[in-house]
Amino acid sequence: MIFPPRSRMFARKSIDRLVDEVEGGSRLRRELGARSLIFLGTGATIGAGIYVLAGKAAREDAGPALMLSFVLAAIGCAFAALCFSELASMVPVSGSAYTYAYATLGELPAWSVGWLLILEYSVSAAAVAQGWSSYFHELLKGVTGLTIDPRLLSAPWDFDYESAGFIAVEAKRRLADGSIVTGSAWLNLPAFVITAVVTAVIVRGIRESARLNGAILILNFLIIALVIVLGAFSIDPSNWRPFFHAERGWGGVASGASYIFFAYVGFDATATYAEEARNPRRDVPIGIIGSLLICAVLYVAMTAVLTGMVPSSRIDFDAPFAEAFRAHGLNRASSLIAVGVLAATTNVVLVGILSQARIFLAMARDGLLPRSIFGAIHPKTQIPLRSTLLIGLFVGAAAAFAPLGLLAKLVDIGVLFLFVVVCAVVWVLRIAQPAARRTFRTPFLPLVATCGILVNGYLMFSLDVRLWIGLGVWLAIGWLIYLAGAARRTETR
Ligand code: ALA
Repeated sequence: MIFPPRSRMFARKSIDRLVDEVEGGSRLRRELGARSLIFLGTGATIGAGIYVLAGKAAREDAGPALMLSFVLAAIGCAFAALCFSELASMVPVSGSAYTYAYATLGELPAWSVGWLLILEYSVSAAAVAQGWSSYFHELLKGVTGLTIDPRLLSAPWDFDYESAGFIAVEAKRRLADGSIVTGSAWLNLPAFVITAVVTAVIVRGIRESARLNGAILILNFLIIALVIVLGAFSIDPSNWRPFFHAERGWGGVASGASYIFFAYVGFDATATYAEEARNPRRDVPIGIIGSLLICAVLYVAMTAVLTGMVPSSRIDFDAPFAEAFRAHGLNRASSLIAVGVLAATTNVVLVGILSQARIFLAMARDGLLPRSIFGAIHPKTQIPLRSTLLIGLFVGAAAAFAPLGLLAKLVDIGVLFLFVVVCAVVWVLRIAQPAARRTFRTPFLPLVATCGILVNGYLMFSLDVRLWIGLGVWLAIGWLIYLAGAARRTETR
């Protein structure tokens, strides 16, 4: 393997050059205002996390103090959001953290950030599509009585975290004579179909994508409002006592925060739309901070309701909200919650694919990915059409066939690490390029960046050591691919 020279691996691109390259070449169409950006960030964020993870975290980690876990995770995200906002106001192009890393740390660190962003967007979209499938099936069964062949509801393999090995997934079917047969699962068909449907909308253009995201988000907001308002009437304040988990105390708040961190993954997706924003230097920071704020407020309110409705030790693991409402005889609301989960997870898949295509576009422009596929912009729709189709296919195939259990677990640690990097990068740029144009300046930067590194680093340290190993392996694979690509780039030069 030919190693690229050190000067190449750490070569940086100036901010002016990054912006000029976009303005001078074929570019994406500016269609998005502040509201669309807030909606895209919120659509990317509210998904399976709040609806599913809150149950286990309340029961095993934090008790009613899970509200504080959501606040703690939001604080870590807020420091990162302020740093993202300054960077987005300086470098309003589509690459988000990848581009910021290129401007400050060089090519290989930027590649590594781009590689981590695959976890944040594509892997989480595929994992969430798998979750979508089981909610869809439950709803279908509940509303119409129809069921899907269980062999079509799961990828054939899964990763067993405890034994650290792959296991074949078995599907039990009832035959016409009533007997039950067990066979291996074939694929997760609904997960593939939802990904294909979402991709079909995305390729029509950014305006259409933003519209669909907005419509689904409003439905989701209505359902969340119903959960909060209706649930508030069923709160028994004695369920909030004791406030902390009896055995875990404050430690449970921290581990709860790392556990539910997935619920916040995605708000920074807004930065990937900088090139499509009408006024990126002003609106992207608004989009990032606004979407984080909306999610944090809703999450804390939803957790207050959940832990107030049911004693924490009895909260359901798989469908905490639906079961809490059912326990109070509110069965209709419980079905609506299933619709809310479907809506929310559809948006996560949509914005995940959309954002991934923008990151790859920036990487292709820098020559790190094939330009003819990932850098080509369709003249009519002015979106990266080929890339979007390919990513949609990849995400759909992964959702249908791949054992994503392990990779999905790496999403949190990968994103936390990204936040640490972004907090460091904004500080480096402030020192290295104090005169660069910034329409948003992170207030008290040294303090905010330090706190961002410490809080997000602390949440990383609360995660299982196996995830650290997994992150190392993921990065090592990324570096091997970088080196292979660098060798090819050198040969063809
Ligand atoms: N934050 C997204 C979710 O909770 C990824 O599904």
